[in-house]
Amino acid sequence: MNISESFGCNEKGHLTIGGADAVELAKEYSTPLYVLDEQEIRKNCRGFVNSMNEYYGGNGLVLYASKAFSCKEMYRIVMSEGMGADVVSGGEIYTALKAGFPMDKIYFHGNNKTYDELVFAIESGVGRIVVDNIFELETLNSLAAKYGKKIDVLLRIKPGVNAHTHDFVRTGQIDSKFGFALETGEAMEAIKAANASVGINLVGIHCHIGSQIFDISPFEYAAKVMLEFIEKIEKDEGIEIVELNLGGGFGIKYLDSDNPAPFQNYMERVSKVIKSECAAREIKTPYILIEPGRAIVGAAGATLYTIGAVKEIPDIRTYVTVDGGMNDNPRYILYKSEYEAAVADKFSQERDFTVTIAGKCCESGDLIQENTKIQKPEIGDTLAVFSTGAYNYSMASNYNRIPRPATVMVNNGESRVIIKRETYEDIIRNDV
Ligand code: LLP
Repeated sequence: MNISESFGCNEKGHLTIGGADAVELAKEYSTPLYVLDEQEIRKNCRGFVNSMNEYYGGNGLVLYASKAFSCKEMYRIVMSEGMGADVVSGGEIYTALKAGFPMDKIYFHGNNKTYDELVFAIESGVGRIVVDNIFELETLNSLAAKYGKKIDVLLRIKPGVNAHTHDFVRTGQIDSKFGFALETGEAMEAIKAANASVGINLVGIHCHIGSQIFDISPFEYAAKVMLEFIEKIEKDEGIEIVELNLGGGFGIKYLDSDNPAPFQNYMERVSKVIKSECAAREIKTPYILIEPGRAIVGAAGATLYTIGAVKEIPDIRTYVTVDGGMNDNPRYILYKSEYEAAVADKFSQERDFTVTIAGKCCESGDLIQENTKIQKPEIGDTLAVFSTGAYNYSMASNYNRIPRPATVMVNNGESRVIIKRETYEDIIRNDV
C-alpha cells in the first residue's frame, strides 16, 4: 500500500501511523478513532509554502481551507507554518480565534454568510471577506458605515471552468450557487458596484474550480481566465486588482492506483502562466492566494475501527461490520468515495479477502466501502481506513445519537488527543 509516508509496518506486522502502532492506538484510545500524522501535515504545509516562495517569489500566501478539518490544534499547526486560513462559517472563525490565529490572515468565504456572521467577522478582525453576491456587498457596505471603517473584500467569480470531469470543460458553471458569473457580465457589474461602495475596499478576486482535481491544466486555464478579467477591470474601468485568490482543489491519493500531480508542480506551472500572462497583458503580477484543504490533511489521516460481526452471504458478499460508519465518514454514502482499507493487526499479510465494510447505523446505505480487499477479517481486529484526514471529522454527525470519535495526533510515534471523544452527556447537552 502506498497512500502516504504516514503509513508503515512494524516488526509485529502491525500498521503504523506516524510511527505509532495502530493496534496500540486503538487499545489506548478506543475506537472508532481518527488518527493524524503531524509530520505529514507539516510536510504538506511546507510543500505549498516553499513552492510559493520558490516559483512565485513569495508574493502570496497559502491559506489552509479549514473546512477540510477544523479544530484548535489544526489552526495552531497551520499558523506555526506561516500560513493563513480560509473559513466558511462563524464556527470556524470562532475556533480560529480561540486558537489564537492571526485574524488578519483569515479569508472568510461562504455563499450565504448571515448578518451575525458578518458582524462577528468584522468584530474579530478577519482580514478579508470573499463576497459572494450583491446582497452581501450591500450588507457589508452598511456595516462599514456602522463600524466606521472600510472592509477589505475579494469578489468570488465563477470563471466558467468546470474541472469536475476528467477533461475539464468551459461550460455549465453559470449554474453554481457560488459567486458572480463572468459570461453574463454579472461579475463586472459587481466589480463596479464594489468600487462605488464607500465602505468597501476592493482588494481582489477569487475563484475555486472544484475539488480532488488531479490535473494541473484546469488550474492554469482558470488563472488565465482570471487574469484576462483583471486586465479588463483595470483597462476598461481603471480599477486596480491587487490580489488573485485561485482557490483549492488539489487531488490526493485515496486508492493505490490514484496518481495526482505532485502539488509542488502546481505552483511551478501556474506561476509560469501568471507571469507570462501578466507580461503579455502589461498588468502587474498580483499577490496570489491558494487554498489547499484536502491536500494538507487528507492523506495524513486514517480512521481505526474495531471489527464486529463478519457476515458471509454465500455467493453474494461478505459484510465486515465496524463500530463506526456514516457518522464518522459520510463520504461513501454521499459520493461513493473510494478508499483503501486494511486489518491493522495483519498489515504485513496479503489483502486477499474481498469484503464490504458496513457501519453500525440503522441505514442500509451506511457503508464505508464495497467489494474492497483487506486481510482476513476477524472479530476484534482493528480495521484501518486510509486518507480520511479531510472531510471526515468535519462532516461527521450524531445520527442515531452516536458520539463522534476522538482525534489523536501522532508525532514521530508520540500520540496526543487533540479532539476528545464525545460522551453520551455531550449528546444530550442541548436537549431541554
Ligand atoms: N476554497 C474554497 C472556496 C472551497 O470551496 C474549497 C472546498 C476549498 C478551498 C478547499 O478545497 P480542497 O483543497 O480541500 O479540495 N466535502 C467534499 C469536498 C467539498 C469541498 C468544498 N470546497 C468532499 O468530501 O470531497
